[in-house]
Amino acid sequence: MQRLTQLSNHLNPNRLSSKTSKTLTVTDNRTGKTYELSIVDGILPGSELAKIKDAKNNPLRLNDPGYMNTVACVSRICYADGNTGVLTYRGYPIEQLADHSNFLEVAFLLIFGDLPTKNQYATWKYKVMTHTFIHEDLKEMMSHFRYNAHPMGLLVNMISAESTLHPEGNTALNGTEIYNNPEVRNNFIYRILGKMPVFAANAYRRRIGRPFVDPINGLDYIENFLTMIDNYSDPNYKPHPTLVKALDTLFILQAEHETNNATAFLRHLASAGCDVYMCIAGAAAALYGTKSGGAGEAALRMFEAIGKKENIPKFLEEVKQKKRILYGFGHRIYKNTDPRVKIVKKVVVDVFRILDKDPLLELALELEKAALSDEYFIKRRLFPNIDYYSGLVFKAMGFPVDYFSVLFTIPMTAGWLAHWVEAIQDPDQKIVRPRQNYVGAPRRNYVPALDRKPNNFELESTRSAQQRRREALLEDDINYFPEDDDDDDPSGEYNTSI
Ligand SMILES: CC(C)(COP(=O)(O)OP(=O)(O)OC[C@H]1O[C@@H](n2cnc3c(N)ncnc32)[C@H](O)[C@@H]1OP(=O)(O)O)[C@@H](O)C(=O)NCCC(=O)NCCS
Repeated sequence: MQRLTQLSNHLNPNRLSSKTSKTLTVTDNRTGKTYELSIVDGILPGSELAKIKDAKNNPLRLNDPGYMNTVACVSRICYADGNTGVLTYRGYPIEQLADHSNFLEVAFLLIFGDLPTKNQYATWKYKVMTHTFIHEDLKEMMSHFRYNAHPMGLLVNMISAESTLHPEGNTALNGTEIYNNPEVRNNFIYRILGKMPVFAANAYRRRIGRPFVDPINGLDYIENFLTMIDNYSDPNYKPHPTLVKALDTLFILQAEHETNNATAFLRHLASAGCDVYMCIAGAAAALYGTKSGGAGEAALRMFEAIGKKENIPKFLEEVKQKKRILYGFGHRIYKNTDPRVKIVKKVVVDVFRILDKDPLLELALELEKAALSDEYFIKRRLFPNIDYYSGLVFKAMGFPVDYFSVLFTIPMTAGWLAHWVEAIQDPDQKIVRPRQNYVGAPRRNYVPALDRKPNNFELESTRSAQQRRREALLEDDINYFPEDDDDDDPSGEYNTSI
């Protein structure tokens, strides 16, 4: 334990260097002034850009929706090179980690910065696997969700509910400095990593209407997860080693991906001083989006909707007309190849060796081939990303489609915790608060209701059958919804009380 604490201190990112290497000379044609701006580590700091001022002394700002070209933090966790298709965690190539490591070891690497020694790994595993049991009240809460509730809804709720059970992590009560203590930080890390698969397994069991299975701390991380998912009453139950290995590999590949949408959101929340559970819950919610971690689910549903190979040309035509998205294709960083895809394809082969081959695989391969030879995708440098194939593995393993994001959230928790540790210790980390370019109405005075001009605001909303039934009489008999498109009740019929 003490050695883990020492390692946390050793890897304090306060030591990050910031060397000024070059400058950029800019002449502002609006004012005729010339500026010499410092470039630090190849990056132009926003504060340097702000030195350029217009005639009214307003600083020059960068408009970058989606942070396409904005660096928001200094990090030492993950390196992804979009042009060469390289991905490393703390310097170790993803291919080597997938071949030789396991998820729990990779989680240690990400969070503490280096591979654990044998003893450190033993302590680490013991700590994580002895923080797996969840509060009985949370189990009860989980059993009250509707049987068909989306499992990500359960997961996000449970992570944030866990926050209420640990007020010692609440920075509003204890101050943000509580997390400066590595022993406190580590305790939250063990708890979150330990409990995440339990929440995930319970979400699964809730969905199939089966009792929750308690964690077995003596098992490995993935074995324990699959046991909680599948076991009924066999005290010697063990999941198939090929499936354990397949999930372990996918967990390694999905554990970290620098400042992706969800991780950026985690850093956003951490910068506000949220407790660690809320940070992870927020990141998980972001990951659920179909343009992010939800893409695996969306891709699988897309394969199902396409149905057969003959429908591929029509589908691609609609994608090109922007009527549809080819889920599992394209990436903000990777513009040549996603290095994880090659590894996932190997996992697909391993899994299909012991489980039935999914006919959707043929369709996915055909669709990939068609897209990769189409000018639209070539020109935009769109390639399959990890979500294109991971969903096929998950489906072959028998996981429901809406469970895919959960299977992404468990491993990403390791990367999030690594970013959380880095962010809360970064002396340069300010509260994240982007600027906006206001183009709305100029200052105007409040207008009393009777004097307001008509407008086109659309207040109609979709209505359930029940609503329509309840409101039918009102609509027919007393014109409950008066037409309001040309004037604002000239008769004053509805305004008598104003
Ligand atoms: C991942 C993603 C959000 C990256 O977005 P981005 O970096 O902002 O790239 P853009 O959305 O600007 O895409 C550039 C162009 O390619 C098109 N494009 C990108 N991904 C596409 C896709 N999956 N299907 C169809 N067209 C796509 C865009 O429409 C855009 O076309 P345009 O130049 O005619 O406007 C995007 O590729 C996407 O939505 N992919 C599908 C969802 C997915 O698989 N997400 C998982 C990521 S791991």
